[in-house]
Amino acid sequence: MIKSIPGTKDILPEEIIYWKNLENIVHQIFSNFNYKEIRTPIFEETILFSRGIGEETDIVGKEMYTFFDKGNTSLTLKPEMTASVVRSFIEHSLGKLQPLNKLYYISPMFRQERPQAGRQRQFHQFGCEAIGSNSPILDGEIIITAYRILQKLNLKDLKVKINSLGIPSARESYKKILREYLRNKLHLLSEDSRKRFENNILRIFDSKIESDIDVVKDAPKLIDYIDDESKKDFEVVKELLTNNEIPFEIDSKLVRGLDYYCKTTFEIISGKVGAQSALCGGGRYDLLIEQLGGPPTPGVGFAAGIERILLACKNENSTTLPEESIDIFIIRIDDELIKEVFNIADILRRGSLKVEIDYLGKSVKSQMREANKLKAKFVLLIGGTEYKYQKYILKVMKTGEQIELSANNFLELQSLIYQKISAY
Ligand code: HAM
Repeated sequence: MIKSIPGTKDILPEEIIYWKNLENIVHQIFSNFNYKEIRTPIFEETILFSRGIGEETDIVGKEMYTFFDKGNTSLTLKPEMTASVVRSFIEHSLGKLQPLNKLYYISPMFRQERPQAGRQRQFHQFGCEAIGSNSPILDGEIIITAYRILQKLNLKDLKVKINSLGIPSARESYKKILREYLRNKLHLLSEDSRKRFENNILRIFDSKIESDIDVVKDAPKLIDYIDDESKKDFEVVKELLTNNEIPFEIDSKLVRGLDYYCKTTFEIISGKVGAQSALCGGGRYDLLIEQLGGPPTPGVGFAAGIERILLACKNENSTTLPEESIDIFIIRIDDELIKEVFNIADILRRGSLKVEIDYLGKSVKSQMREANKLKAKFVLLIGGTEYKYQKYILKVMKTGEQIELSANNFLELQSLIYQKISAY
């Protein structure tokens, strides 16, 4: 048997209803905040991600699905959207059309990580990028947007963590201070973190290894060393969150796993999904557009993992969906009436009713069973002598009532059906 690749999952029809519910909420809330949808290709030139996300990050260093096409170009399945959206923003000069572009997306992403609950190799994100303003109001807005989406999904066990990474020059001075602090503790760090000490020291805060966490526990805090402008902006973000009733805590170790961030960063954590607890994360990236060859333009955004959010919804039992049903099941008494039945179904479907018929040559009893299983609101019975005299029976499933309909043709039948069912 050919199976799906580990770390990828089929989303089966019984799950789709949860996905659609989430996607509808995502479209609705982003539209409330006046974001416009953007879709970008699944693969891009590898250099976009290595330059955008940073060579020393786990994503670029270990997790990308990279391959050469027949023209020997190095391509990568997108591991995240920010770099792709920025590439598109630059390529189409979106900044010339309007000074601020508020864009959102829903898309599959690919990272070669060790699969576990809430961590896949093909996963899905929704997210947004607001490109063109350095106002900290927008930093607050994206956190609020993310929170409102999770709230609309009735999630309760949420924790918003925020931090500010300051501008790069302030961060450089801090890195020196951190390096001094850690220099005589190197032997206590994991091998990975010792490498990070050399290449990308802030990443040590990302480590999930107990001993690493212990070593950096009392390290000097980045937030105490950031520049004044970043401090001021951070105050605005905090005030905005407070005014809009978003509970948050400051996490001075929240450096995030991508190199493009400056100033505000944030994550929303769920207490209900186990080790992979970050439902979403994001922040400001004021230098990325320039780094990728565009005009100096500030940006801020976030992305959220759909699988993790759905897992949290399941574990919190937060989603109540309307029961799926159909409007009419057409039961035929004589099997040879299949074409007529199909014809009536088509006429009713064109009128936007959800209609099902039997394609398996089932007995009348089994067709009735199927109608019950599909929770049909009405059953239309066709066949026997009634059909010869152009008579049909419409059964109201809720009450058991049977209504006789007399029609000279199917269009007349359609209008009679509409009249009758609209009364229920
Ligand atoms: P990220 O933190 O790498 O940020 O990913 C955002 C979210 O995607 C995570 O919080 C998590 O829910 C989900 N996620 C990440 N990896 C996986 C995985 N292997 N399996 C399942 N879910 C996963 C970004 O991607 C940035 N582009 C966010 C951003 C947008 N920053 C600014 N703008």
